[in-house]
Amino acid sequence: MGTDIKKIGVFTSGGDAPGMNAAIRAVVRAAAYHKIDCLGIYRGYEGMIEGDFKHLTARSVNNIINKGGTILKSARSVAFRTPEGRQQAYDQLVKAEIDALVIIGGDGSFHGGMVFQNEFNIPVIGIPGTIDNDIDGTNYTIGYDTALNTVVEAIDKIRDTASSHRRLFFVEVMGRDVGHIALNAGVGAGAEEILVPEEDLGLDRLLESLKRSKDTGKSSSIVVVAEGDKTGNNVFELRDYVEAHLKEYEVRVSVLGHMQRGGAPSCYDRVLASRMGVKAVESLLEGHNNVMVGTINNQMVLSPLENAVKGSTQINHELLRVSDILTI
Ligand code: F6P
Repeated sequence: MGTDIKKIGVFTSGGDAPGMNAAIRAVVRAAAYHKIDCLGIYRGYEGMIEGDFKHLTARSVNNIINKGGTILKSARSVAFRTPEGRQQAYDQLVKAEIDALVIIGGDGSFHGGMVFQNEFNIPVIGIPGTIDNDIDGTNYTIGYDTALNTVVEAIDKIRDTASSHRRLFFVEVMGRDVGHIALNAGVGAGAEEILVPEEDLGLDRLLESLKRSKDTGKSSSIVVVAEGDKTGNNVFELRDYVEAHLKEYEVRVSVLGHMQRGGAPSCYDRVLASRMGVKAVESLLEGHNNVMVGTINNQMVLSPLENAVKGSTQINHELLRVSDILTI
């Protein structure tokens, strides 16, 4: 292909996501296929600064496509935010003769990569890996589909106990500042209400809706709350508010937390990660730089890393409406 890249470094950075291992495997094997060397960089930018590298061959990534987490480990590096830290990282890459970088992570990791590329002119390419699905330039990020399935399974279980005790549950799910996990898992699990940061339902409408549910014969309810939603400030204050205003409800809170980041990746995430890994390596070898691999309408595409860092994703209004209609 069109560049003189001989050795690439691959790393995972920021919050881990199921499918990152499948992406590492794809990068390593695509590199082997094109006869270039591949070094794994451990613990993201932190390991880059320390020179924590390991040569990876096609066989080093056997039996990881089905594993959650990341074999390369992950970290959020404070030192890399300083010019001195980045200089140390660059010196380590030069020593190891790494010509280009594949970053598997979210927007924070891409921001670090962009700054680094601008300072040292080393080619970088991003693969979006985060359960939040909050990155512009791709319809899906690696890990999102698995997290949705994990959340739906958890809510199904909560529903069993909710209906046995005729209780109302507030289930808080991850997503940082966006509501994609809440909305999609909420619809998938048949939640009565879904609270997302992108839409302000308001406490009065929530009470009205819960009251209507009771009046129309529902004995238990699930309200999915995105962690970034501000209705009632947080999920515990929401519980207190509803208990104070709707005496007929017995309310419980369940914060799903980090279990949403674990587990074996879904088939969708494994396939997505495999396609993205191959696309990333081949794009680097074709001379692309400072871009992120994405999937739009099931086609592999490249977009500037800058868009991934600065852009934002939109909540699906059609799905919000579907949820409203189906919770009648
Ligand atoms: O970005 C992934 C994510 O799991 C978010 O959904 C969540 O807000 C955050 O990371 C939690 O971060 P930490 O692992 O640092 O607690």
